[in-house]
Amino acid sequence: MYTVNNFLKVAASGGSERIETIMEKKEMLYEGKAKKVYKTDNENCYIVDYKDDATAFNGKKKGTIAGKGVINNRMSNYLMSLMEKEGIPTHFVEELSERETVVKKVKIVPLEVIIRNIAAGSFSKRFGVEEGSTLRNATLEYCLKDDALDDPMINDYQITAIGAATKEDLETIADLTFKINDFLKAYFLKLNIELVDFKIEFGKTPDGKIILADEISPDTCRLWDATTHAKLDKDRFRRDLGDVEEAYIEVAKRMGLIGE
Ligand code: TMP
Ligand code: ASP
Repeated sequence: MYTVNNFLKVAASGGSERIETIMEKKEMLYEGKAKKVYKTDNENCYIVDYKDDATAFNGKKKGTIAGKGVINNRMSNYLMSLMEKEGIPTHFVEELSERETVVKKVKIVPLEVIIRNIAAGSFSKRFGVEEGSTLRNATLEYCLKDDALDDPMINDYQITAIGAATKEDLETIADLTFKINDFLKAYFLKLNIELVDFKIEFGKTPDGKIILADEISPDTCRLWDATTHAKLDKDRFRRDLGDVEEAYIEVAKRMGLIGE
């Protein structure tokens, strides 16, 4: 049982107030590579539980990054709460514990939405652009979330053709994604971190609203020290660069989420 404080009760006067409710964690709905998702006794909410498990190359490489779940939970929640203040709707409701968070129930749009500011990873490989080259404009690309197919790249026409998202939803997703990029780029730069690229996911609420879901963390972003260009993200695990935990801790420290 958890006490949750973040529900808004609309008062008869038209205003709203915070109310305390008790929430019960029910059966596990889904176990992903980095998180578990649980049902709750509130039909509008799930609880996500962040694990230390790390995978790469569509699960072919497996490992553990000690303490990652705690850092990713805090970081994702903190960034989403800042974004809410910027008018970007997210699934974040309330952090319950080191690893658990209440989120709004959504149906995930089966797309990985990727923005790149600097060439790296699969972009560098696919287009023969040296890693670290600044791109003349940010790029937006989509991959279809389908492990069996290895998350293939997919374009707007293909997305609407197979019904993965509607044209209207894609317009909302693109618009929100560029706003998120502007926000995150500026935020991380203040911490002397370059936001090289990132992957986000969106969900649809039962009333049809598109909101930011999943997580934003060093698992899902490439973050480089702006001075040394040292990698402070999951590429340290993907590429066996060592100091993996230290990289996550360094980002969390710069964000003020953990002490020196
Ligand atoms: P990529 O260069 O491998 O395509 O990755 C682009 C960005 O997306 C990078 O920040 C890492 C992130 N990403 C994920 O979050 N999940 C994934 O499964 C993959 C392949 C990439
Ligand atoms: N989510 C990807 C996987 O295991 C890993 C990655 O971030 O590269 O497959």
